[in-house]
Amino acid sequence: MLAQLLHLKGIDSVVLEDRSREYVEHRIRAGVLEQGTVDLLHEIGVGERLGREGLVHDGIEIQFAGERHRIDFASLTGGRRITVYGQQEVVKDLIAARLKTGRPLHFEVDDVEISEVDSDFPLIRFGHDDDEIELRCDFIAGCDGFHGVCRDSIPAGVLTAFEREYPFAWLGILAAAAPSNEELIYAHHERGFALHSMRSPEVTRLYLQVRPDENLDEWPDDRIWEELRLRLGLEGWTLNTGEVLEKGITGMRSFVVEPMQHWRLFLAGDAAHIVPATGAKGLNLAVADVRLLAAAIAAWYRDGDGSLLERYSADALRRVWRAQHFSWFMTSMLHRLEGGDEFDSRLQLAQLAYVCSSEKAAASLAENYVGLEHV
Ligand code: PHB
Repeated sequence: MLAQLLHLKGIDSVVLEDRSREYVEHRIRAGVLEQGTVDLLHEIGVGERLGREGLVHDGIEIQFAGERHRIDFASLTGGRRITVYGQQEVVKDLIAARLKTGRPLHFEVDDVEISEVDSDFPLIRFGHDDDEIELRCDFIAGCDGFHGVCRDSIPAGVLTAFEREYPFAWLGILAAAAPSNEELIYAHHERGFALHSMRSPEVTRLYLQVRPDENLDEWPDDRIWEELRLRLGLEGWTLNTGEVLEKGITGMRSFVVEPMQHWRLFLAGDAAHIVPATGAKGLNLAVADVRLLAAAIAAWYRDGDGSLLERYSADALRRVWRAQHFSWFMTSMLHRLEGGDEFDSRLQLAQLAYVCSSEKAAASLAENYVGLEHV
């Protein structure tokens, strides 16, 4: 995304990817795009398939105490919506756009090393097709995820990390089954949280709250479907089932480093922050980061103006912390709190009843979910 934004401003870049094209184009990740993310994909010329295949949703449903409640985003936010479109589909579209520009994109690079980060021309060394390559850079964008090399190449003492681990994880499946509901369903249940989502009219994505150390082997498909039926079930509603195409467990954690920059090295997306998936913000935050970064780099090349680069971290972190709060709010409201008592559980029900009955409370959830225009 950053490379495409820079390309459109006439700025060259080299994109390095650790994995193969095949791997990144098929890795199942997030699926909810905020309105602003969708708008940006259209603006940069990669929205054609998204427009055709993306599933536009005007709201979500929240289920608790045996009832489902709809939060209507469109009416609560002046017409803003979300689009369900798999992250790997966005990745495919961006790779295709990059290849069309003819600018460099290298897959399966290895031994990436970053050095001289305290200089005006930091250095990247990497291996590719048996060659050792050195890149002298004006800027390095660390868009390399939580386990990437960029954050760790910043000298000790520069960054402060803020972290929270949640005492649960999500067991997620992708199934060859038509979605059982038009909307996403976030279900709070005494057996634990469950989420009904989708990827297409033929493919459902479903999640169950489990323990962080849960063993996938103890979850044969039948047990998963039964548990989903118990948590998502309602009179007169049936859960469509089908072949399980993919199964995995994801931990829930919040993580932020500050600042998101060291000299000419800028961190974006999961390299700088992780949110629990309940707020569907991870991919959208990464996009918001690189939108700021592209504008800042462009101003530097065009006018020699470094002021946006200086403000990048502070500007990005305002949205990051808003999203952290929203993700924490959704996570704590919806999950069964391990070790929580009856008081905690009554507080959750009071909060759920409030967001589902007060238009003002629902509007606050809605504007955060579809993505705030200004933070
Ligand atoms: C998904 O479809 O993968 C999904 C949807 C909503 C979330 C998290 C994940 O909050």
